[in-house]
Amino acid sequence: FAMMMNLLGAILLVSIASVANALTKNDFPPHFLFGASTSAYQVEGAANEDGRKPSILDTFAHAGNGGLFKGDGDIASDQYHKYKDDVKLMAEMGLDAYRFSISWSRLIPDGRGPINPKGLEYYNKLINELTSQGIQAHVTLHHWDLPQTLEDEYGGWVSRRIIKDFTAYADVCFREFGDRVKHWTTVNEGNVESLEGYDLGFLAPQRCSPSSMSNCSKGNSSTEPYLVTHHMLLSHASAAKLYRTKYKAKQRGLIGFNILGFGLLPLTNTSEDIIATKRAQDFLIGWYMNPFIFGEYPDSMKNDVGSRLPYFTARESSLVKGSIDFLGFNFYYALYIKNNPKSVQKENRYTSDMAVEFKPYTGIGTPTDEIPVIPWVLEGLLHSLKNDYGNFPIYIHEIGQKTSRNSSLDDWSRVKSMHVYIGSLLDMLRNGLNIRGCFVWSFLDVFELLYGYEKSYGLYFIDMKDPTLRRQPKLSSVWYSNFLNNRIMDS
Ligand code: NOJ
Repeated sequence: FAMMMNLLGAILLVSIASVANALTKNDFPPHFLFGASTSAYQVEGAANEDGRKPSILDTFAHAGNGGLFKGDGDIASDQYHKYKDDVKLMAEMGLDAYRFSISWSRLIPDGRGPINPKGLEYYNKLINELTSQGIQAHVTLHHWDLPQTLEDEYGGWVSRRIIKDFTAYADVCFREFGDRVKHWTTVNEGNVESLEGYDLGFLAPQRCSPSSMSNCSKGNSSTEPYLVTHHMLLSHASAAKLYRTKYKAKQRGLIGFNILGFGLLPLTNTSEDIIATKRAQDFLIGWYMNPFIFGEYPDSMKNDVGSRLPYFTARESSLVKGSIDFLGFNFYYALYIKNNPKSVQKENRYTSDMAVEFKPYTGIGTPTDEIPVIPWVLEGLLHSLKNDYGNFPIYIHEIGQKTSRNSSLDDWSRVKSMHVYIGSLLDMLRNGLNIRGCFVWSFLDVFELLYGYEKSYGLYFIDMKDPTLRRQPKLSSVWYSNFLNNRIMDS
C-alpha cells in the first residue's frame, strides 16, 4: 500500500510539473496578437501570370545569384492559386493575423502608371478571405521586390525619384485595401536591403564596390547604402504623411517600418569593444531609429561617414521624426563585435565605416544548420531600444528557425525555438516592454532568398517535386496550433 501511495504521489508530482510547464495563448494579455509571416516573391509564384511584371528579385534569382543557391520564385509555394487553402489552414491553426507583402509589380507592373486589375483582384480576394475568417491582414508594401522598370529607369532606391513613385503606390494600397487593412509596414528589413543589396552585394540588386564580398563592380559601397536608406526613410515618411492626412481619420490604421534586429555583443568587456558595440548598433539600428525618434542620424554616423552621409533638411527632418506608429522587428542572430580602428580599414564603405570586426555568435551545441535560440539577446536589445528611444509599440514581425528543407516533419528544433521565444515574451511583457504581437517566419516553406529551396523555416512542408505542392504539417504547426487554441502541452 505504501509503495502504491508513493507511486501515486510521484505521478501527481509529474503531472503538476507538466501542467506548470505548459504555455498557451491564455497566458498573454487578451489583445496580444499571434501570427505568421511570408512575403510576396517568396510565396506567391505565378510570376508571369495575369499581367505581373518582374521585380529586382526575379532578376536576381534568374541570374543564379552568384551560385549561392538554385531556383527562383516563379512557382514558389503558389499561394497566388492556393490562397484559399492557405487561409483555411491559418484559420484552423488559430492565427490572429497573417503578415504578407504586396508585390508592387503585380499591382502596378511598371512601378508607376496604370494599375493591373488582376493584381488588384488578387489582393482583394486574399484580404477578403482573411477578413472573413477573422484573421487580421498585416501588410508590407515593400519586401525587397522593387519593380525592375524603376531599377532600370533611374536606379530604384539610389535615386530620390523613388519617393514620389513609392508614395503613389502606397496611395493606391491605402485607397483600395485600407478599409480592411489596419497595419501597414512600408519597408521590410530596410537595414538588410541597404547592407546586403548595396554594400556586400549578395542580395538584389547586387550592387557593391569591387572589393566587397561578392566582388561585383556595378555599385558604390561608400555612398549607395547611405543613399538607399535615406530614400527609404523619406519614402516611408512621405507615405505616412499621406496616410495620416488623407486616410487615417476614416480608416484608423497604423503605419510602421521594419528592421532586422541584429543582436550585438561585445567580444570582450574592454571599454573599446563596448563602445564599438554601441557604434555598430548606431549603424545597424540607430540609422533608422534616430531619424524616426529624433529626426536625424546618430552622431557616431555623422562623425564617421562625414559628407558621404546624406542630411535631412529641416522640413524632411520633421517629416521623418514621429513617422512610425510602431516598429516591426525581426530577430534571428547575434554577432560579437570587436573594435577595429579605422586606420586598419582599407577603404571607406558602409561596413568599414563602422570600424568594427564581426564574429558570428554560434551558440553552444547548436547544429550547423540551425540558428541559436537566444531570447536573452532579444530582450537585452529591446531594453536598450527602450532606453534610447522610449517605449514605442513593437511587433516582433519575424522569429524563426532554419532547417534543411527536406529534413524530418518532426522539426523539434523549431518547436523548441518557438517555445523558448514565445515563453520569453511573457517575461519581456512583465518587464515592461511594449510588444504588441509576434509573428513566426514563415507560415509555410517558401523560396528563401539566400538558400533557395535548400533550407526553410516553414510550419508546413512543401515538397517541390510534388506537383500538387501539398502543404504537410510539421510538428511545429501542431505545437503552434495547440498553443493558439489553449490546448495544454508539456513540451
Ligand atoms: C528575413 C526576411 O524578411 C525574409 O525575407 C527571409 O526569408 C527571412 N528573414 C529568413 O532569412
